Amino acid sequence: MNGRAALELVRFGANPLAYLDGLHDDERPIVPLMLGSQPVHLVTKPEHIALALENDDWPPLSRGRLAAFRLWVPGSIVTTSGAEHHSQRDEIWKPLAADTAILDILVERTRRRADSWAHGAPLELFSELQSLCWAADWQALCGGDLDAEPELLAALRLGYDALVWLVLPFGERRWRLPLPQSRRTRAARDRLDAAVDRMVAERRHGAAADDLLTTLVRTPGITDEQIRSTFKSWFGTSLVFALVTWTLLLLARDADVEARWHDELDRVLGERAATAGDVDDLSYTTMVVHEVLRLVPPSWALFRALTGDYSLDGHVIPAGHVLAVSPWFTHRDPRYWSDALRFDPERFAPDAPSPPRLAYFPFSAGPYGCHGPKLALAEAVLVLATLGQRRSFRLVGPEPEPVAKWTVEPRGGARMASTARRR
Ligand code: HEM
Repeated sequence: MNGRAALELVRFGANPLAYLDGLHDDERPIVPLMLGSQPVHLVTKPEHIALALENDDWPPLSRGRLAAFRLWVPGSIVTTSGAEHHSQRDEIWKPLAADTAILDILVERTRRRADSWAHGAPLELFSELQSLCWAADWQALCGGDLDAEPELLAALRLGYDALVWLVLPFGERRWRLPLPQSRRTRAARDRLDAAVDRMVAERRHGAAADDLLTTLVRTPGITDEQIRSTFKSWFGTSLVFALVTWTLLLLARDADVEARWHDELDRVLGERAATAGDVDDLSYTTMVVHEVLRLVPPSWALFRALTGDYSLDGHVIPAGHVLAVSPWFTHRDPRYWSDALRFDPERFAPDAPSPPRLAYFPFSAGPYGCHGPKLALAEAVLVLATLGQRRSFRLVGPEPEPVAKWTVEPRGGARMASTARRR
């Protein structure tokens, strides 16, 4: 690795979002980068992003560094490619994502959680919303109450944190070393696997429950390892908590948008609990959510490791190189978004001009794209509606800076206070 490439890697690693922002002056459709010893090609133009992602007969592709996730979720969809991937997508994930039972669970849990917050007391909203959304996910998956199982929540958090360090250089070696964090993460995997195995045995030998784990157990041909890994993977793939956190942060800064949002909630819902049937009528809330997905996309970049040469509109990218696309970069690209850094939900109004396709791709696209975008949007709209009916949120302390981890997090957390709304 030469000195310049090492320096690039350090600059990228120190702040990937600032690094990507710094590439906006480069007008090339495919920007070559040398991150350490890894050549990477950032695909910047929507028509090329489509060619890079919407390609059904990928190979030449491997999951690259994501393969290290096998230590936490062996055989999970995110570690597979080709036919094995597509069969997990169609037979395991699509049925799970089509089940909307989680929506009522989420509304009920959000209502209870919001009512438990003391008036005006500061909260760290990112971890609070993570534990709220995960408790709803857990209940939908297996009927249990994650709030009553703090050691299982802690185990999920260790696995979630590992998603960041496992893909770094030496991540797999670090997993095996007798370091405190590695030891705790390996123990967390064993604890969760044992919990899932117990619940699977109950469903096989006792009365079946009406939950997603039962759907998994009944999936023809599924292995025990796939059941465990799918269950645990849910808590890394669903990023609704990040989306809702950034929405509340951006709304707290914009009194006009917030007032218009509150008006919609009062008009469509009033005092009653939101249901899945309300999502279509909460059109302004949905516009706000899309604008947050544009400005602060929870998945900030996606990578495809090439196992063979790949020709992208005449540019041949050699085997061993990595194709990168970045919702963060493209959603802020002034070539496609005017006044790109301004928070403006009107961009997503029904009569607003559409940007080129794949200038906006918060859920990625193609065979490896997100398998739950519809569910994720409905979840975000309903959590926000339930919170916004009851509370107003204000930032406590300085504006948090976005920082790229597994998702985009507010550096130092999102310290906000909420007060009961007077209507
Ligand atoms: C706001 C919430 C969410 C966002 C922003 C999001 C975004 C994404 C993105 C960008 C990818 C990467 C695709 C790629 O590499 O091209 C992805 C993958 C995935 N998402 Fe989502 N997602 C969200 C919620 C969900 C939910 C609720 C589910 C549950 C069904 C889900 C299931 C998945 C799965 C299984 C994958 C792996 C895809 C694969 O490797 O084939 N996501 N998601």
